[in-house]
Amino acid sequence: MKPVRKAIIPAAGLGTRFLPATKALAKEMLPIVDKPTIQFIIEEALASGIEDIVIVDGKSKRSIEDHFDSNPELENNLREKGKDELLKVVEETTDINLYFIRQSHPRGLGDAVLTAKSFIGDEPFVVMLGDDLMDDDEPLTKQLIDRYNTTGESTLAVMKVPHDQVSEYGVIAPEKEVADGLHQVNSFVEKPKPEDAPSDLAIIGRYLLTPEIFEELENTKPGKGNEIQLTDAIDTLNKRQHVYAHEFKGSRYDIGSKIGFLTTNIEFGLKHPQTSEDLKKYIKDLAKKLD
Ligand code: G1P
Repeated sequence: MKPVRKAIIPAAGLGTRFLPATKALAKEMLPIVDKPTIQFIIEEALASGIEDIVIVDGKSKRSIEDHFDSNPELENNLREKGKDELLKVVEETTDINLYFIRQSHPRGLGDAVLTAKSFIGDEPFVVMLGDDLMDDDEPLTKQLIDRYNTTGESTLAVMKVPHDQVSEYGVIAPEKEVADGLHQVNSFVEKPKPEDAPSDLAIIGRYLLTPEIFEELENTKPGKGNEIQLTDAIDTLNKRQHVYAHEFKGSRYDIGSKIGFLTTNIEFGLKHPQTSEDLKKYIKDLAKKLD
């Protein structure tokens, strides 16, 4: 069985929910406290043993490439001033095996993944979506890799969501639980209406896929929103070989919406050594003034 070494991070979306901030700046560069969101995703990949990462990006995304490049002027400045801690922070992001593919006409998540076909070749790989930050004892991507190492089959992460929110997600129709928290799946449905949803188990942004998914993607017609949906290709792959669903039990931060982005900043700010005390005090004082 080939090891899982590669990751695809789709980042070609226009970030319209965060306009005007995302007119010239990539959505993935918006910070949670002091770190761009995409850096959290890359750290999860590296902590899971991923060696090569391809970012599928689009227009106005140069800031992502610059962020993971060296910046000699800044580094020299920090070195001269003896700011060693900051120098370490800046240098940390330059030594990663990162590759970029530009998707000129984004046609959906499935299309973004297909763009990376030749980069991936004939190996299992992971897809990591930037709108979901995960927190657990073990990185979620590592949990998926562990599942793959026992089953040898594609596995994606799911989580129970409130029933009235299922139409924002891909949803699974679970068939049976084959191991603790691992479901064999009957079908995968992209963004069903709540009344049509086969369960409340929603696909969250981590997928481990076998390379056979590319054949399915090549034959997938535009679906929901007239986009090539990864969920649709996964549903057909599941008819050829099992695609399992792994139930994530940790915390998920949805940073793709304004409210999720704000609350995540507060939660991470409460954990950040430089802001936690002041922020806690501020929130307590503010709470007294609200109502
Ligand atoms: C995408 C997928 C969807 C999945 C979701 C997770 O949707 O198409 O199946 O549940 O990510 O965040 P998007 O949020 O890009 O519309």
